[in-house]
Amino acid sequence: MNKGFKKYRPAQPIAIQNRTWPDKQITKAPIWCSVDLRDGNQALVDPMNLEEKLLFFQTLIKIGFKEIEVGFPSASETEYEILRTLIERNLIPDDVTIQVLVQAREHLIKKTFEAIKGAKNVIVHFYNSTSTLQRKVVFHTDMQGVIDIAVNGAKLIRKLTEEIADPQMNIRYEYSPESFSGTEMDNAVEICDRVVEALGSTPEHPVILNLPNTVEGATPNHYADQIEYFCTHLQHRDSAIISVHPHNDRGCGIAATELAMMAGAERVEGTIFGNGERTGNADIMVVAMNMYSQGVDPELDFSDMPYIKSVYEKCTKMHVHERHPYAGELVFTAFSGSHQDAINKGEAYMKEHDSAYWEVPYLPIDPADVGRQYEPIIRINSQSGKGGAAFVMKHNFGIDMPKDMHPEFGAVIKAACDQKGAELKPQEVYEIFENEYLGVHYPYQLKNYRLTDNDDNTTTFEGIVGYHHNDYKIKAVGNGPIDAFFKAVKNIGIHDFEFISYAEHALSSGADSKAIAYIKLKTPGGDFIYGVGVDNNILIASIKGVICAVNRTLKQNKGE
Ligand code: KIV
Ligand code: ZN
Repeated sequence: MNKGFKKYRPAQPIAIQNRTWPDKQITKAPIWCSVDLRDGNQALVDPMNLEEKLLFFQTLIKIGFKEIEVGFPSASETEYEILRTLIERNLIPDDVTIQVLVQAREHLIKKTFEAIKGAKNVIVHFYNSTSTLQRKVVFHTDMQGVIDIAVNGAKLIRKLTEEIADPQMNIRYEYSPESFSGTEMDNAVEICDRVVEALGSTPEHPVILNLPNTVEGATPNHYADQIEYFCTHLQHRDSAIISVHPHNDRGCGIAATELAMMAGAERVEGTIFGNGERTGNADIMVVAMNMYSQGVDPELDFSDMPYIKSVYEKCTKMHVHERHPYAGELVFTAFSGSHQDAINKGEAYMKEHDSAYWEVPYLPIDPADVGRQYEPIIRINSQSGKGGAAFVMKHNFGIDMPKDMHPEFGAVIKAACDQKGAELKPQEVYEIFENEYLGVHYPYQLKNYRLTDNDDNTTTFEGIVGYHHNDYKIKAVGNGPIDAFFKAVKNIGIHDFEFISYAEHALSSGADSKAIAYIKLKTPGGDFIYGVGVDNNILIASIKGVICAVNRTLKQNKGE
């Protein structure tokens, strides 16, 4: 047996009593900060070029981000240039704050201050690592050494801000004790309190204290405990905005973000679609859409998800997975027949009850809310239930078959799927419908017709019906058009069929609008069969439906 697990130590519980976060609910949007252009970008095989960063930046603005970390200008010339371009070309809206990251090191801080010159609203985000592990294996220093680095950085940042003395520039600060979640909580609180003091932060000018889950190493409740502990022990709590920056190493970045918000986080850093170092950052899109689906306004707009996804894929050269919540190609697709039936019923229920709430099983949100359409919701394969194909016909092509007809059409579709051995696209479903019903003009064919209403409330049908290669003139009087037609065709071999039911609806509107009729007949053999007719005249559509049902019966019986 593999004993490899023995080299890992479990996370130790936080010394917190009477934690309150489990009883909290997320009721309002946090301050969002996108770190796509920094944390996300630094994790790309090919980091974004200027053009890609600008496109991504503009897309983040469209989504509604008001705080965007645009880069690490002291880290490379490209990063520096991109920041200068944003500022000099005036590409940053007045209500958007750009954020720049820098290590708490003198020369890097100085370079960063050069890079931000002229920016209207900017957050200088500085950090140093505080974790037990990094102190031991990377920095070989004690906690005081780490506090000194942070405090010296804070003092320099304050001094450089004072020196700039530009009333046009609104400079705010953010400090991250990197690897916060791997730091002893009292040390994390201590270093942050010292930073608040060194920066001179006040309730009017609070510092953002960003608490990264740099490497996610424990369950999300553990991170939430750390956030609650931090919030309740920080001496200068009123001079700080508490921000979280979860990563996703255990695949729980979204859950950790949500629990951290419940535990007191007021601000969230992350990326859309969760790109970032290793397994990525917290996926802000999903956190926001999770709020949305709970009836809370996330204050971010993902209504054009296909566009946002296309920009993301173009700029990052990453791929959004087919099963990615809210955005994946397949997330509004139901393969299972029972799911398809339930979706159908949910939709009908909402219409019938004029429901103000979304009440469709298996679809956590209305796909239209993220710019997706109903068409691809149901894909047809041989596992699809009888309602699936009918649903596609209704939603994609406006053909609303009577419920009683669904099993018949479902069986036709199932046979086609089995034969193809693969899923059918909506267009293929339509073509099968067309072949099976609308294109059946043999052996009987309506060639000419006239319907006359008589004074005694009867109807006369007169017309020419082709049978194989001969045409026959027929005429009869009946209680209505279908009855008259049935009587007329008795003479040309159509007898012993019994009319069972009839349904119809308009197919289009306007002067040349068409109607579709669904006719159910009982065949001479005692089976039930449907026929479909389409015509500008609804009465003729139903007569065509009768002929279709007869032709289909003959085709099935004799292979005509
Ligand atoms: O994950 C992290 O700790 C970071 C910090 C630099 C904020 O990205
Ligand atoms: Zn990070």
